[in-house]
Amino acid sequence: MGINFLSFGSALPEGVVTNDDLSHMVETNDEWIYTRTGIKQRHVAITENTVSLGIYAAEKAINKAGIDKNEIDLVVCATITPDTSFPSTAGMVRQNIGLRDIPALDVCGVACAGFIYAASVAQGLMTTGSYKTALVIGAETLSKITDWSDRSSCILFGDGAGAAILRKGDGNGIITYELDGINDVDEYLICRYPESESPFYKGEHVEYTKMKMNGNKVFTFGINSVISGVTEMLSRSGLTSDDIKWIVPHQANYRIISSAAHRLNIPVEKFYVNIDHVGNTSSASIPIALDEMTDKGLVQKGDKIILVGFGGGLAAGSMLIEL
Ligand code: ACO
Repeated sequence: MGINFLSFGSALPEGVVTNDDLSHMVETNDEWIYTRTGIKQRHVAITENTVSLGIYAAEKAINKAGIDKNEIDLVVCATITPDTSFPSTAGMVRQNIGLRDIPALDVCGVACAGFIYAASVAQGLMTTGSYKTALVIGAETLSKITDWSDRSSCILFGDGAGAAILRKGDGNGIITYELDGINDVDEYLICRYPESESPFYKGEHVEYTKMKMNGNKVFTFGINSVISGVTEMLSRSGLTSDDIKWIVPHQANYRIISSAAHRLNIPVEKFYVNIDHVGNTSSASIPIALDEMTDKGLVQKGDKIILVGFGGGLAAGSMLIEL
């Protein structure tokens, strides 16, 4: 008995911001952005929000799975950009697509490792609880926490959502996973809530609410996370990279992916890359990639795939799955 991925779905907002568009907002250019990151464009919400993107991705995943939406008995959504503190993004998706009165919860604060954390939470609940079919989502509108005047970070991020249907049944599904948490958070990446407006608050004055990032530190952390995640999944399963059809890394920077591939001695062609047209969509990046891959016919039933995510939190996660 395993927890299997039945299908994937994704949604990108209609707005597209090219590198040339950014060059009119901050001092940068297409050549710098593309050679340093691999990004050509990113999608940004114009009318969409985190919930609406989550809904579109979820509906696509439900349709592709060919299941009745009433079969879903659990929703888990990863996000660092919820529209509301409560209800949860998962709860809003549940209501808007007309699911039954089932548990729906968000996995917050683990940023670009979010989808792997959310799938692991769903797997745990499905294994020990009575849940048979889960909707797992990663949904973000990073554009609302991006500092659009900071050229070293605003060039990276995009909005979007990805989703998967997980079902308990025959098949290996999620073979193994590893979740990691790392300290030194303030040094790398942080996005603060606004200052407390409580009349009783006498604590620290918080000046910023947008995302702050030390790109160089995150860069090294990203390479190390991909290397350790892939190595751990292979050693734990006794498989070699030849047994793995694809590695789907979080799409943060093409140079992170190619450096990790080089140091792992695995051809970079085995790493799925779509960062050129999507940018870094945090928790949505891995399920968006998986949905693209299934739509393109790049994956078949029985394929083994390693997923690796890393980012704010600091959090990292890797997962070995068999479709
Ligand atoms: N255009 C032109 N020049 C720029 C830009 C830009 N957009 N951004 C920075 N520069 C300049 C810098 O000012 C610096 O100039 P200087 O040498 O005169 O001081 C020079 O380019 C080099 O800057 P670096 O920061 O060293 O450039 P680097 O090659 O490291 O690339 C980048 C920066 C792209 C941010 C890289 O560090 C990176 O991708 N880091 C990882 C980010 C990441 O993965 N984040 C994921 C987590 S996000 C999350 O969890 C929500």
